[in-house]
Amino acid sequence: MSKRESKGQHQISLLTLAGLAPITLRSLHGVQGRVLQLPNHDLIMFSRCEERTLRDTRLIEDSFMMLGKPLSIRSNKDLVALERLVSEREIMAAIELKKRIFPGRAVKRVTFNTYLKQDKDRKVYRKQIVARINQLVQQRFRRWRLQDPAQLELWGFYIDEKLHLGVRLTDQRVRYNYSKPFLRKGALRPSVAAAMAYLISPSRGELIIDPMCGTGTLLQECMARQPDAHYVGGDNSTEAVQISQQRLDGSATDIFCWQALSLPLGPNSVDGFICNMPFGKQYGALKAIDRLYGGLLEHWLTLLKPQGRMLLMVADDVLFEQVLRGLQCRFESTGKVKLLGTWARFYRIEK
Ligand SMILES: C[S@@+](CC[C@H](N)C(=O)[O-])C[C@H]1O[C@@H](n2cnc3c(N)ncnc32)[C@H](O)[C@@H]1O
Repeated sequence: MSKRESKGQHQISLLTLAGLAPITLRSLHGVQGRVLQLPNHDLIMFSRCEERTLRDTRLIEDSFMMLGKPLSIRSNKDLVALERLVSEREIMAAIELKKRIFPGRAVKRVTFNTYLKQDKDRKVYRKQIVARINQLVQQRFRRWRLQDPAQLELWGFYIDEKLHLGVRLTDQRVRYNYSKPFLRKGALRPSVAAAMAYLISPSRGELIIDPMCGTGTLLQECMARQPDAHYVGGDNSTEAVQISQQRLDGSATDIFCWQALSLPLGPNSVDGFICNMPFGKQYGALKAIDRLYGGLLEHWLTLLKPQGRMLLMVADDVLFEQVLRGLQCRFESTGKVKLLGTWARFYRIEK
């Protein structure tokens, strides 16, 4: 075991949705990382990363232990050098790390496979890279079986003609932040909700409202961040309210069926609003959406305490900013994320 491994530090990368890397890095309190961009994801590379960091973050989709140094692949003949990257010793070290941090069921016979994400189409085809890596793994581990899906996944990130290869440490559970998936149209991915929870950072004792809470993802992530605040949510869909109540069952959260344009709350009573706003494009009502945004913001601003803040996510940012400029408030965009091929922005709004 190398000195670095024995200290619980490894070459790690974290995969987030595109746009979330800067917020993820800030949430990790100054851990230094380099960000590589893929069409729908950001990849944060750490030359040193502690195991604690891997367990702590809820803003990621996946994490990997990287094998060796990135390999330059410009033509098919460079594939020979993959020999160096697919190291038996490092793969075994990654399996040990995975077992320690994200333990799964014990298996009799390991199944494996390789997956590849790339920044754009290149001269060397992704299929060829994958086939070569699988061949090398099979040579090194004769008893393992190539299968899809597999228990052990190698992931290649082919960016700027360089291949970064890693062993996936996480599994599906991390994408749902260890809770049961609650699915409904418009439901937010937990990693995005965790980013918004970080951006609003509820404090102990505060009243935080999600006025259009859908399946309750945002409230759940806020609660994971600060369990000692008072959370209230609601939606005008009874189906959404039922799902939220189920999801947040047992927690000190109140969920109501209500109309977000006339909330049953007093003026200057709310510390924070957090909300994933209905998207005009998504709901097919682009004309009506500016009136809706105007009505909602005006109402919520009256309910907000003078020192309060809103953290809202919107896909129609141009239209949204037009509406904001017509209101008595200060606002700034605090980040963005790509969801289903569309960029959405986070806004912090104050009175
Ligand atoms: C984008 S979704 C929110 C999704 C939620 N963040 C989640 O993770 O499931 C917007 C929600 O606003 C609700 N909604 C739309 N208009 C509303 C209104 N006028 N009053 C209350 N809820 C409303 C919809 O039913 C929908 O659940």
